Amino acid sequence: MNNILSDKVSIITGGGSGIGAAIAIKFANLAAKVAIFDVDEKNGKKIVSQIEKSGGTASYYNVDVSNKEQITAAVNEVMKVYGNINSWINSAGVSKIIPFLDCSESLWDQTINVNLKGTFLCCQVAIKNMLPKGGSIINFSSVAGKKPCTEQTAYCASKYGVIGLSQSIAKEFANKNIRVNVICPGIVETPLWDKGLRDEYAIKRGLKPDEVMDYFLKEIPMERLCSYQDIVNTAIFLTTDMSSYLTGQSINLVGGAWMD
Ligand SMILES: NC(=O)c1ccc[n+]([C@@H]2O[C@H](COP(=O)([O-])OP(=O)(O)OC[C@H]3O[C@@H](n4cnc5c(N)ncnc54)[C@H](O)[C@@H]3O)[C@@H](O)[C@H]2O)c1
Repeated sequence: MNNILSDKVSIITGGGSGIGAAIAIKFANLAAKVAIFDVDEKNGKKIVSQIEKSGGTASYYNVDVSNKEQITAAVNEVMKVYGNINSWINSAGVSKIIPFLDCSESLWDQTINVNLKGTFLCCQVAIKNMLPKGGSIINFSSVAGKKPCTEQTAYCASKYGVIGLSQSIAKEFANKNIRVNVICPGIVETPLWDKGLRDEYAIKRGLKPDEVMDYFLKEIPMERLCSYQDIVNTAIFLTTDMSSYLTGQSINLVGGAWMD
């Protein structure tokens, strides 16, 4: 096993599924100690057991990222077990496509609470624990945090917000050896798309659900979707000293589809 992350204790929110799970598995494989914070206990424990079967170290904590008490209690446990936190990845997120005039107040609140407030709360707890020794935080925005997407008002607002939040704290803690960067993926075929997003996008564009990914492909100069490997490689780079002069940056993983 390559041990390049052996000095890392990584908290990964949303680590029970999709992007967060892929990062948790690879980070553990590279010898990081991984703590998964997720509301989905079944999936979170499944990823932990997969990691342990491969000889890695991981634990699951039932945490709703919009709940500060739950985050703090879990972090206290992580500190007891692993003694340090120097890497934090905020991948927990929700997304729904719905015309603006149909976006209810409760959908707005839920999206902002998980995607934006959750990232805020986790960054605050992360930084308090990283202050003595430094660390790296990776937040997840999206290409929808860089350019407007119709019928995704709450999601766009939350993901634009994640970039502003990240840039602000990146600057505030730059001289404390705490780096904060953002990954902005295009389309990654994760369980998120199976939870309704594919069907909603199909309705939005007048497509059949199985035509949606091909529709996206036509917009991508590299002619392929973003893979788990693309994300994981970027997360490793942002977590290690290979990126030691990089903070406050929002990296587009979109195969050339967007360059701002
Ligand atoms: N998949 C894509 O195409 C794509 C594109 C751009 C950005 N992103 C972003 O990447 C991140 C990961 O997305 P994914 O595709 O892996 O999604 P996913 O649905 O596969 O995984 C998200 C995880 O977050 C967890 N979660 C949801 N609400 C939570 C909460 N309140 N507290 C704790 N955990 C919670 C879910 O249980 C799930 O395990 C999200 O922030 C998403 O917005 C995804």
